[in-house]
Amino acid sequence: MHSLDHEKLPTHVAIIMDGNGRWAKLRNLPRIEGHIVGVESVREVVIMTRELRIPYLTLYAFSKENWVRPKDEVRKLLELLGLYLDKELPLMLEKGVRFNVIGERRDFPEALQAKFAEVMGRTAKNKDLVLNLALSYSGRKEILNAVVTLIEDVKKGLIKKIDERVFKKHLYTGAMPDPDLLIRTSGEMRLSNFLLWQMAYTEIYVTDTFWPDFRGDQYVAALREFGQRERRFGRVKED
Ligand code: IPE
Ligand code: IPE
Ligand code: MG
Repeated sequence: MHSLDHEKLPTHVAIIMDGNGRWAKLRNLPRIEGHIVGVESVREVVIMTRELRIPYLTLYAFSKENWVRPKDEVRKLLELLGLYLDKELPLMLEKGVRFNVIGERRDFPEALQAKFAEVMGRTAKNKDLVLNLALSYSGRKEILNAVVTLIEDVKKGLIKKIDERVFKKHLYTGAMPDPDLLIRTSGEMRLSNFLLWQMAYTEIYVTDTFWPDFRGDQYVAALREFGQRERRFGRVKED
C-alpha cells in the first residue's frame, strides 16, 4: 500500500485541518460544502492512522476563536459535528478508537455535550487509537485552566512540587505523549493557538493542499517526510 518505515512513524500526530472555505470558494460552492467534504478526509486519516498503528491523533476541528464566524456557518458546523459523531460511532467501535474531546465542552449546546459524553463513554475502553477532537479549543485557555486547577490541588495539599511533569497532567492531553508531528493544510504558517505547551518540540509539516483534498497519499507524504527529519532536542548533530 505504502512504503513507510514503521520505526520512524510518529506516536502522536496533530493536524490543523485548514482550508475548507478556500476549497469551496474555488468551486463557487458555499463554505459549508468544504466542511462536508472535509469530513471525508477526517474519516480517511483516522482509518489510516489506525492501520499504521499510530496510537494518538489530535484533530483541530473548531477553535475558541471560531465562534466569531457568521452565525449560519457556526450553526451548520455544529450540525455537521453532531452528524459526524452519529455516523462515525460504529466505525470507532469497530476499529478500537477511543474518542476524546479537548477544549471547552461547555461552550456547546447541551444536546451536543450529551453526544460528546455518549461517544466518549461508549469508546472509553478502546485501546487501538486515541482520537482527540479539539473543539472550542484554545491553547492559552488550556494553559490557564491548568494553572487554576494546579493552584486548587496545591491548596488541597495534593501537590508539593510543581514541575513540568506535574503541570502537564493538568492539560486536556493529560498523560498523553506530546505530538511528534504537526500537519497544517492549506499553507498557513501559524499555530493558531493549537497545543501551545505540547508542541514545544513538534516537527511541523505545512502543505498547500486544502483539507478536503488531504487524503491517504498526502498523509503518507507527510509521514514520509517526518521519517527523514532529524530531531535534535537541543543536542548537536549526530554523524
Ligand atoms: C478549517 O477550514 C475548518 C474550520 C476552521 C472549522 P476554514 O473554514 O478555516 O477554511 P479557510 O481557512 O477559510 O479556507
Ligand atoms: C484553525 O484554523 C482552527 C481550525 C482548523 C479548526 P483557522 O482558519 O481558524 O485559523 P486562522 O484564523 O487562519 O489562524
Ligand atoms: Mg482557516
